[in-house]
Amino acid sequence: MFNFPENFVWGAATAAYQIEGAVNEGGRGVSTWDVFCDQPGRILNGDSGEVACDHYHRWEQDINLMKELCLNSYRFSLAWPRIFPDGEGKPNPEAVAFYNRLIDSLLKADIQPWITLFHWDLPWSLQERYGGWRSRETAQIFADYALYCGEVFGDRVKNWFTINEIMCFTHLAHREDRYAPGGKLTDKEVNQTVHNALLAHGLALKALKNTQSDLRVGLVENLNAVWPLYGDSEGIRAAQKAFSDLNQQRLYPAMRGCYNADVYERYNGPMPDILDGDMAIIGLKTDFIAYNYYHAVPIESSVDTPGWKEVKIPKHYPRTDMAWPITPEGLYWTLIFSSTAFPDLPIYITENGCAVRDYEERDGSVNDVDRLEFHRVHLQACARAIAEGAPLAGYFAWSLMDNFEWSEGYSKRFGLVRVNYRNQKRTIKASGRYYAETIRAGRVL
Ligand code: GCO
Repeated sequence: MFNFPENFVWGAATAAYQIEGAVNEGGRGVSTWDVFCDQPGRILNGDSGEVACDHYHRWEQDINLMKELCLNSYRFSLAWPRIFPDGEGKPNPEAVAFYNRLIDSLLKADIQPWITLFHWDLPWSLQERYGGWRSRETAQIFADYALYCGEVFGDRVKNWFTINEIMCFTHLAHREDRYAPGGKLTDKEVNQTVHNALLAHGLALKALKNTQSDLRVGLVENLNAVWPLYGDSEGIRAAQKAFSDLNQQRLYPAMRGCYNADVYERYNGPMPDILDGDMAIIGLKTDFIAYNYYHAVPIESSVDTPGWKEVKIPKHYPRTDMAWPITPEGLYWTLIFSSTAFPDLPIYITENGCAVRDYEERDGSVNDVDRLEFHRVHLQACARAIAEGAPLAGYFAWSLMDNFEWSEGYSKRFGLVRVNYRNQKRTIKASGRYYAETIRAGRVL
């Protein structure tokens, strides 16, 4: 029977705009998401993060839920526009006080806080003033924000994520027009926003490390995950190549400090403009690798260049409420391929979970057996990879509770805890109870 390591990090994750609400309280400034949600037709049912889970007022209750779930760690993001309402300049003491209360109470509950500095809620004034991620200015200002946060919270918070999922606020936001701030830039312009975000990551890492020497810092990446469909040795080689080819825009440059121009251009279009010194900053050594894992594509080997090809997943294959295929095998291979490509660094799965349509029974219980089984098979994939030597050091379920799922509004539920949006009542779901039992046992039940 496989037991997870003694000091394994068991967590759940959230993000500020998705749970906090209180957008006009506590001196918070406007974010790109506030503005985006105000535009008609952007978000399903006209939803927004205005109230969300009202976590800004209910955080104490939410920490109690974390205790009931047996979490030893909690990953959350700071709202940049709360801390710097204008994006830069003068910090807001009310916001610092709010996060201080949260951090201190977490520590008192024996739950380690893991902070994400940027989970997409860019201060609107930076969008207006500099064009947001289109400009390098934003990267510099992000580093100032990181420095300040390291100074005020770094005495107690030791684990930091600079940026969450660069793809989403660059490609999805600036090319596909689906996320804030919205837009349809050219490939080259979008690639520049990605480059600027990578630069922001490196500058913030450096800034954080300057505040306290014992801070651990990394980037949260939603990689293009793959698995070898047939599992034969040739297929495994092909899939490892696909892993490398498909992740040359963000993951490899952050880990290696260089772009592979040929492969980059083949899959991503024109290279961004790079200034002297950028790559050294982008490639500054992180303390760990962090992946958000949701699904993967199957790969088989091919005699044609590049030596691999994607196998199409059929429509009727089992999927979550997001229509994402359920592919635990991809998580196992992500851990294997990643530790082959970047040995010696611990890996954290910083998000894994699924949207399913759960509901409250008459007796108040929520029997989300489908989500429970999703977590079980993905944890089994983690256990198998660790047993084979992958340096997986932690797993954060996405999400602690149902929340604002971006352009899908409140229609998609990812939580281990159900939120009734009419009265903000929280109910631990079957999946949450199962997760707590698993953590207590230290093995996949
Ligand atoms: C993401 C974000 C989360 C999402 C989750 C489900 O990683 O995309 O970190 O905010 O809610 O992934 O889509």
